[in-house]
Amino acid sequence: MLELNDVCFSIRKDGEEINLVDHISIRVPKGHFMAIVGPSGCGKTTLLKTIAGLNPESAGSLHWEGRNLSEDGDFSPTEIGYVPQFSIAYDPLTVDESVEAATRLRVKSRNTAELDHRIDRVLGETGLGSISDRPVKVLSGGQKRRLGLAMELVSDPKILLCDEVTSGLDPRSEREIVRLLHDLSRKDGRIVLSVTHSLAHLELYDSVLVLHEGRVAYHGPPEKLNHYFSVKDTEEVYPRLAGQPSERWQNSWQKHKESYYKMIGAVDPKPQEAKTEPAVPEEAKAKTTHKADDTELRLPGFFAQFSTLLSRRWRIFFRDKGQVFLQLAILICFPVIVTLFSDKASGNIRRYSDVRQNNVFEDIQEQQSVRSDQAKVGSAVSGIIMFQVVLLALMGSNNAAREIASERQIYEKEKFGGLRPSAYLLSKIAFLSTLVIAQSLWMAFFVDFFGTFRGNFTEHALFLLLINGSMTAICLAISSLMRTAEQASLLSIYLVGFQLPLSGAVLALPEHIEAFTRPFISAYWAWSGSVAALQGQVNGAVKSVIDTSLSAQNACLYMLAAHICVALGLAWIGSRRPQWD
Ligand SMILES: Nc1ncnc2c1ncn2[C@@H]1O[C@H](COP(=O)(O)OP(=O)(O)O)[C@@H](O)[C@H]1O
Ligand SMILES: [Mg+2]
Repeated sequence: MLELNDVCFSIRKDGEEINLVDHISIRVPKGHFMAIVGPSGCGKTTLLKTIAGLNPESAGSLHWEGRNLSEDGDFSPTEIGYVPQFSIAYDPLTVDESVEAATRLRVKSRNTAELDHRIDRVLGETGLGSISDRPVKVLSGGQKRRLGLAMELVSDPKILLCDEVTSGLDPRSEREIVRLLHDLSRKDGRIVLSVTHSLAHLELYDSVLVLHEGRVAYHGPPEKLNHYFSVKDTEEVYPRLAGQPSERWQNSWQKHKESYYKMIGAVDPKPQEAKTEPAVPEEAKAKTTHKADDTELRLPGFFAQFSTLLSRRWRIFFRDKGQVFLQLAILICFPVIVTLFSDKASGNIRRYSDVRQNNVFEDIQEQQSVRSDQAKVGSAVSGIIMFQVVLLALMGSNNAAREIASERQIYEKEKFGGLRPSAYLLSKIAFLSTLVIAQSLWMAFFVDFFGTFRGNFTEHALFLLLINGSMTAICLAISSLMRTAEQASLLSIYLVGFQLPLSGAVLALPEHIEAFTRPFISAYWAWSGSVAALQGQVNGAVKSVIDTSLSAQNACLYMLAAHICVALGLAWIGSRRPQWD
């Protein structure tokens, strides 16, 4: 039995407390199929999220099989299935791959046979067996809803919450889905709660909950609905609801509640006075905790989740031909552009002492010519290094800005299903590290081979790796903290855009501002670290043209490492923080 006692969910708006879910008390027996209906905005989704534990109730309590969910903790991830309004599958993957990933992330299988069996069973149950190799993006609306259900059924949830899984479908598909939900509720005493805007096919449900402004206006058998609202046609229920304040509807239902609950088999199992006593005896409590542990054990381990996510990420990457092409184009073209500019940077720098003349006039002329050579080479070398740094920063932002933000809702859903944020974040780090290493080392090799880096190649490559790594990490953090992928991209692009002017390599800022901005400008540290890796003479040439001070190489190394660590810390905070729409 699922029981809600005076459950409220409130938000603060303009300093005022508003109950979006308002003192809801209902009981739902096991094996029950219940519709939650009501006009748009009446709080159906909010109620579903409150039951799921995604919206913490602000008052009242929820009970599930003798367990007080408010005190003893929410449903375990394998106990509950929640099919949200949005699609929870990735378009480039096939039906089979989507269900397989969902299974691998949620349920521990002893061997491949067990895993395959589970996948086949779920595909069969939802009628997807014959189209299991189709990509998600070509599925019809109805098939997509079935897939959403299949991905939730992999853990055999005892309670299945569905939000508008029939909206936007043609009448036939709608009926098929309602039928499917009905059948799912007939297995293992599973409770299926289905939010729907539509008042069609109500006869297939065991009970109908009518919500109005967050309150219960009716909960009882579907066949009594018209009688209760004194209407001839179910379609007239909504207009009728609007004719009376929700409080009056709630009061009148409270009066008739128990008689309707007899009809749907939801009679109160506990006598009234027993409620004041400890609801669950210690022994039974131990049992329920044990049960929770048991289901907890069925969650796959950290590495299983990590490797599932990582292989899924690569698969999605390679399926998206546009993305692969863009990455390759960037990888190849950026170093080529840099080499086009590196001609001047390889010019000779004569030593002043080599050319000392007898004649004072010629001596001065020679001095000037050496200085001019030095300035030419120095600014070219400095420019080339900064160019590489900025391009790698740009690659970093392109790598990571959308990485989390673009799939946030799916990620939240998977987290709800037991995915560890640590496994998720590590899979992102592993995926992005491969891109970062490939891009940075290729840039270093290419430019050194076709141009020349006149200094220590390893040190230079290390700083290129660090600038790309730090920008990728920072943009990953942005991606985990922003609400939308668009916001994250925009912010990341601005961040890269400001690297160059604020680095001091081109324009010098007033010193007091520079002291404040410099610690945050990754590009400065990568540039300064690379300049320190140059041969003495070239290093001197660069120093003679720049207007800003350089830092010790170790300081540059530590600063960039600190940028990466702070960014990953922020990405961790961002990935753990719940961010449902
Ligand atoms: N987190 C929130 N903050 C503010 N308002 C919210 C929040 N969640 C829902 N609402 C508002 O509460 C009402 C009920 O929303 P919802 O449960 O989504 O309705 P529906 O019945 O259409 O599913 C709507 O008016 C919605 O705008
Ligand atoms: Mg809704």
